Amino acid sequence: TFPYKIIILQHPERRPYDYNEVIAMSILFYEAQRSGKLPSNNRIPWRGDSGLRDGCDVGVDLTGGWYDAGDHVKFGFPLAWSVTTLAWGVIEFKDAYVDANEYRRVLDSLKWVADYFVKAHTSRYELYGQVGSGRADHLYWGRSEDLRMNRPSYKIDASNPGTELAAETAAALAACSVVFKNARPGYSRMLLRHATELYEFADRYRRSYHLSIPDVTSYYRSYNGYNDELVWGALWLYKATGMRSYLEDAKRKYDQYGQGNTPIMFSWDDKRAGSQVLLANFTGEAKYKGHVANYQRFLNGALKTPRGLVWLDQWGSNRYAANAAFIALAAAKVPGIANRNEMVRFAEAQIHYMLGGAGRSYVVGYGRNPPTQPHHRGSSCPAAPTECSWGNFHSSAANHFTLHGALVAGPGRDDSYTDNRGDYIANEVAVDYNAGFQSAVAGLKYFKIKQRR
Ligand SMILES: *[C@@H]1O[C@H](CO)[C@@H](O)[C@H](O)[C@H]1NC(C)=O
Repeated sequence: TFPYKIIILQHPERRPYDYNEVIAMSILFYEAQRSGKLPSNNRIPWRGDSGLRDGCDVGVDLTGGWYDAGDHVKFGFPLAWSVTTLAWGVIEFKDAYVDANEYRRVLDSLKWVADYFVKAHTSRYELYGQVGSGRADHLYWGRSEDLRMNRPSYKIDASNPGTELAAETAAALAACSVVFKNARPGYSRMLLRHATELYEFADRYRRSYHLSIPDVTSYYRSYNGYNDELVWGALWLYKATGMRSYLEDAKRKYDQYGQGNTPIMFSWDDKRAGSQVLLANFTGEAKYKGHVANYQRFLNGALKTPRGLVWLDQWGSNRYAANAAFIALAAAKVPGIANRNEMVRFAEAQIHYMLGGAGRSYVVGYGRNPPTQPHHRGSSCPAAPTECSWGNFHSSAANHFTLHGALVAGPGRDDSYTDNRGDYIANEVAVDYNAGFQSAVAGLKYFKIKQRR
């Protein structure tokens, strides 16, 4: 008997969707992604300790953190963005987590990765940004608990810097330091120390991080470069420290790097839309509000599937729509912003599509006809010690375990989708997919609570 069975009630599609249940489940998904020594309150029955030798190759303890997706690499860059985005959601929509009785849980969830980043930041100008080799990892289909291969550790430092990675990790730790300010003041200050150093590292030694960690190139290199992370990182440092110098620096860089241009989408790679909202919020200036409005106009005019999902890219379409929904909800909280109701309605349409509005749920374990074959190694495997291998990948049966709360990648531009484990473009899950999604669901709940009052 596991406690999560109590909170998860299978039910047919119903409106309004049960945001509490979705928030609780999304947090469970992150629990299923945990690497390292699991605590005794682990709620995922099929998970155990794993990756206990991470960092041994370099004599550093790099255990912990979250596995990236259906695989078992720890990719620091999208991981850090996921944490920043989840923490931002907690900052904006705390009431939603409290009302859902998930506030303590989401803090635990963030702390799990913040602790990992602190360990990975081994000295002022040294940060481990990846554990596990993409190619070797992807050749294996099985449980994380059974990993036998070498898992190399990759770092950036002053001679091989990596600006995107250092600045995003700084943003994540700064955002977490805001989250923990009252609950754990000492911990919050410690996180902020790391964030400050990492930002300085990012700003002083500039280089795209995939040049220093070439293994990441085919997975999560930053296609748009590091300018957006420098602005975004400075904004989170400003939020966490209140120091005007960070805000002034962010504003200067924002102009210098053309960050007011309309971005295509908010994602683990592109932070511009986020910076626009933060600047509108921090300064109240019409200039930034105008950039936020431009972005909303772009989303309104962007391609939609026949059933209404804003469709920004093939690979993980749900995730980009969920990120757009979260940005709209964060923008709707900016004091004096125009078109607030429109933004909330846009976000609602996107999230409701994923929860069942398009005829099926895209969230594993939730609602009507949810995915049963997410591309995810651990949950596809039978209970240990039964062998798990590529045979389980090729099997046409449902995953052996339900990966509760995971948002699958999403449909094609015509709403087409097949629940097929082999399709890593439409049916994988990832820590970055759920980040904007969870924060957006919290945002919808937040506005619902406000309406009630
Ligand atoms: C944006 O402003 C609102 C209203 O002042 C505030 O509640 C919210 O926390 C701010 N967001 C951030 C990320 O600072």
